[in-house]
Formats: sequence, structure tokens, C-alpha cells
Amino acid sequence: MALYSDKVMDHFQNPRNVGKLDDASGVGEVGNVKCGDIMRMYIKVDDNGIITDCKFNTFGCGSAIATSSMATELIKGKSVEEALKLSNQAVVEALDGLPAHKIHCSVLAEEAVRAAVKDYYDKNGIEYDPKDFPVHNCEHCES
Ligand code: FES
Repeated sequence: MALYSDKVMDHFQNPRNVGKLDDASGVGEVGNVKCGDIMRMYIKVDDNGIITDCKFNTFGCGSAIATSSMATELIKGKSVEEALKLSNQAVVEALDGLPAHKIHCSVLAEEAVRAAVKDYYDKNGIEYDPKDFPVHNCEHCES
């Protein structure tokens, strides 16, 4: 069996929504201290709290690129509240799976979306529950 699904290979080789949004409503940057990979996520939010556009730049492994690409596809057109609920498992499922030792890469994608939403909330003075933005404590990054 191939190590990576067709969807992972597709999103790695043809990543969607790569780039930068100059007029982003929120920008989130996260990194994994262990592997050194960095992901930056840009979201454009309209007056109704809907993410109308989303782009990313990932300096990292193929799985990080594929998961950030899929994450942008999953949150575009959704509300910021829905984007906050995006889990790394949902991203992995949408990609038809990832090898176990690459699951931590999908955590980076979830965190990048979360960081972009937090930045949007901060810039707009929108109150939020800090519990929705836990400090990164991923066992995979510590191991
Ligand atoms: Fe660093 Fe995949 S190895 S995010």
C-alpha cells in the first residue's frame, strides 16, 4: 500500500490557495519546534463573519503542505466559529489519512487556522474564550 493517499499527493503537488493575502483580516503563524516547519495562514472575513478567502504559506514537509492546503479548502466559505472547530482529525480524514508519524503535521494546520482566527478576533476587539486557544502542547513535538 502506498504510504500517502492520492489526495495527500494531489494536495502536496498541487496545493490550493498558496500565497499571501495583502488585505487579510487575520494572520496566524505557527511552527513546530522539533522539525522546524513553519505555517502561515491568512483569512479574509466579511462583515457577517464568513471566511471569504484564505491563503497559506508553508515552509515544511509534504504532509504539512497537503494539510494546510486541505485546511484552506475546508474553511473557505465557513464562519470563523466553524473554522475554529476544524480539527486536525477532520483534515486528515479529508485527505484519506496520513501515516501515524505524520499526524503531527496536521496539528500544525489546525493551529494555523486557530491562530489566524485569534488574530482576527484581536484586531477587531472581539471577545473570546481563551480556552479556545490553548497553548501548544503536542506530545508529538516533544517526543
Ligand atoms: Fe514538520 Fe511535517 S515534519 S510539519
